Amino acid sequence: MTTDLLEEIHALEADGRRRVEAAAGLDDVRAVETAVLGRKSPLAKVSAAMGGLAAADRRQVGQAMQEARGRLATLLEQRRAAFEAEDRERRIREERLDLTEIMVHPGAASVADRGHLNLVTQTRDELEDTFIAMGFEVAEGPEAETDWYNFEALNMPPAHPARGMWDTLYLKLGEPETILLRTHTSPVQIHLMEAQKPPIYAVVPGRCYRRDTPDARHLPVFHQVEGLVVDHGITFGDLAGTIEAFTTAFFGPDIHSRLRPSYFPFTEPSAEYEVTCPICAGAGCRTCSGSGWIELGGCGMVDPNVFGAVGIDPEEYTGFAFGFGIDRLAQVRQGIEDMRILLDNDLRFLTQF
Ligand code: FA5
Repeated sequence: MTTDLLEEIHALEADGRRRVEAAAGLDDVRAVETAVLGRKSPLAKVSAAMGGLAAADRRQVGQAMQEARGRLATLLEQRRAAFEAEDRERRIREERLDLTEIMVHPGAASVADRGHLNLVTQTRDELEDTFIAMGFEVAEGPEAETDWYNFEALNMPPAHPARGMWDTLYLKLGEPETILLRTHTSPVQIHLMEAQKPPIYAVVPGRCYRRDTPDARHLPVFHQVEGLVVDHGITFGDLAGTIEAFTTAFFGPDIHSRLRPSYFPFTEPSAEYEVTCPICAGAGCRTCSGSGWIELGGCGMVDPNVFGAVGIDPEEYTGFAFGFGIDRLAQVRQGIEDMRILLDNDLRFLTQF
């Protein structure tokens, strides 16, 4: 009887082994496990028959049974692990994102016609190239600013009336009205002067935010390029010359610049930067309200109080700064009547540039 049972266990193990090896997937492995090692399996029946054996025989058959079950369980585990690994690899293969996939817009003539950078981005890139050619470095700064950088260090203490010009969007961070989306790129002047000693020759393109109602020449989210020069002996003449040189390089020889007296708390003296209206070539039209000139930004000599905020000695250094609207530059150069079209995602407009 003992020998019979031992042989049966041996035969059942061999059969079980064949079935495990024949399993074609995880579902098969689960089914074979139940059939070979489950409560209703032939091996379980042999276990039940062991009850009638003498104690010593029961121990011998019991041990053989345990060893056979252990080997089968190990084999099942190996098969399961192999199928799981295969499954994982297949899923990774199937779910892999092809980041080189080419998106083609509906009106495209061919796959090669895959779209291009937005006009504002193209303008920013060209501005960077123009200023790099003039010897400037390109820097950047954060879009979320503290009150200190956006206002106070720029000579606008709390309750200064000039803050009203930049009525703006505060973030729910820290104390109320202490952190805001920057209203201009001028705060980066402060970051630059904190981070390095003069000489500084830098331009900073970037996004700005204001609580402005969109209209033909305003967007609530727009772009500026800031310029900052700090060195020994910098004069207003350097500012005017730099702006005229930039204007000719960017717009061509037919467009000229002029500076009109203005006011900014962080520059003294300050000026508005205007260019010949490219639509009427200075004769006067609807776009320039008949003046022949279009305002692109502000500029001036860095106020000594701003130097004071960053620990630069205004007796030793002087400097100038400017801030132009990039969307406005693009609008003027391309003769776009209404700036809002820049945000419309209208392919009939976008594909023209
Ligand atoms: C400023 O923002 C100053 N920081 C500029 C400056 C820098 C002066 C350095 C002196 C020294 P202003 O608010 O005028 O100034 O904006 C400058 C330019 O940004 C505008 O002339 C215009 O071209 C552009 N701009 C301003 N608001 C908007 C808007 N809502 N949408 C589109 N462009 C805008």
